[in-house]
Amino acid sequence: MGSVRLDNIAKRFDGTGAAAVDGVSLTIAEGEFAVFVGPSGCGKTTVLRMIAGLETPTSGRIFIDGRDVTDLPPRDRDIAMVFQNYALYPHLSVRENIGFGLRMRRVPALEIAQRVDRVADSLGILEFLDRRPAQLSGGQRQRVALARAIVREPAVFLFDEPLSNLDAQVRAQTRGELVRLHRRLGTTMIYVTHDQVEAMTMAQRVAVMHKGRVEQLAPPLEVYRTPATLFVASFVGSPTINRFSGRTLGGGASQLFDGAVQLRVAAPLLEEATLTVRPEHLDLVAPVHGSAGEVTLVEPLGPETILHVRLTGGEEATLRLPAGPVPTVGSTVGVAVRAPEALVYDGAGRLVGRGVA
Ligand SMILES: Nc1ncnc2c1ncn2[C@@H]1O[C@H](COP(=O)(O)OP(=O)(O)OP(=O)(O)O)[C@@H](O)[C@H]1O
Ligand SMILES: [Mg+2]
Repeated sequence: MGSVRLDNIAKRFDGTGAAAVDGVSLTIAEGEFAVFVGPSGCGKTTVLRMIAGLETPTSGRIFIDGRDVTDLPPRDRDIAMVFQNYALYPHLSVRENIGFGLRMRRVPALEIAQRVDRVADSLGILEFLDRRPAQLSGGQRQRVALARAIVREPAVFLFDEPLSNLDAQVRAQTRGELVRLHRRLGTTMIYVTHDQVEAMTMAQRVAVMHKGRVEQLAPPLEVYRTPATLFVASFVGSPTINRFSGRTLGGGASQLFDGAVQLRVAAPLLEEATLTVRPEHLDLVAPVHGSAGEVTLVEPLGPETILHVRLTGGEEATLRLPAGPVPTVGSTVGVAVRAPEALVYDGAGRLVGRGVA
C-alpha cells in the first residue's frame, strides 16, 4: 500500500508567469521515505498539495497505488498531511486532539482510545495526554500533530517542513524519531524541506527541485557524489562544492580541462565547461605541483579546518583539511585536484564527464 506516481504534473497559478511545477514525473515506491528538497519557491509545497488533493494540477495525472486520484477529493486519497504550521484545537486535550479525525470517521470509542494510546506511547507523549496544547512545548506540540496524522494509519504520509519551527536540538531529535517511526510503520512518507541536512539524513531517496522541476531523484550519497546538474552540485554540500570554469581541449583518449585548474578528463569537447570538486577532494601541495594561490581565510572547526585560497587568475578554492598545522593567511600554496572525484558539466549545467587519474 502507498506507492505514488506523478505523471508529468504541472501547475500554473492564474495570473502568474512561470509554472510553479513544470512537468514532474516520478514514482515513490511503497514504503519509501522520499524527501523533496530545494530552495524557497521551487515548487515543493505545490507538489505535495497536489498529491494531497488540496491543489489541482493544470496538467498531468497522479496515481496512488496505481489508482488515478487526480480528480478525487483529499478525503478519498488515504493520505495524511502534517504542515509546518500545524493547528491543534486549543480547547481540546492532547488525547482529544489526536483522536479527533477518528471520531469524525465514527471509529468506536474503545478503538480510538487504544489507537491514541499506542501512538502517544511510540512518540513519547503518553504523559501529556490530558494536557491542553498551550501547556506543551513547541516540540511536544509538533509530536501531537504527528500523532494525529499517524493515528489515522493512512497509506501515505505527506510532511511539509514539519520541524522548521523547532529549535536545533529538538529538531535533530524529532528527525531521528521520524526515521525510526518510518522503519517501524513501513508507510510511504513524502517529506518536503529546504534543509539539505534534513534531506540527506532522513531520505532513502532525495528529489532535488529547482524552478518547478526535479533535477535529480537518487539516494542521498549518490546525489552528493554524482550530482546530475550544476545546480544540484552547488545546492548539496557544505562548504559549497568548488566550481572552476574553463573549456575542454582535444587530446586523444582523454581531453584536457583548461581553466583555473588543469586536469585530464573524460568529457566531450566543450567551449564552455565547469569542473566541480568537493572541498575534501582538494589537496594542499607545493605551489609547483598544483595550481598556485594565496591563502585568504583559515577556519578551524575542531575536527577539520576549512582553508580558502585565491588562485592565480582570481578563482576561489575551498579545501577541507584534517585538523593539524595549516598555512597561515597570506602564504602561497599549491592546490591539487583528486582527479577521479572531479566532475565536468557542460554549458547547460549537465553532467557530461569526469576527471581521469
Ligand atoms: N496560491 C498561489 N497563487 C499563486 N502563486 C503561488 C501560489 N502558491 C504558490 N505559488 C507560487 O508557486 C511557486 C512555488 O511555490 P511553493 O510554495 O510550492 O514553493 P516551495 O518550494 O514550497 O517554497 P518554500 O521553501 O518557500 O516553502 C512560487 O513561485 C510561489 O510564489
Ligand atoms: Mg513550501
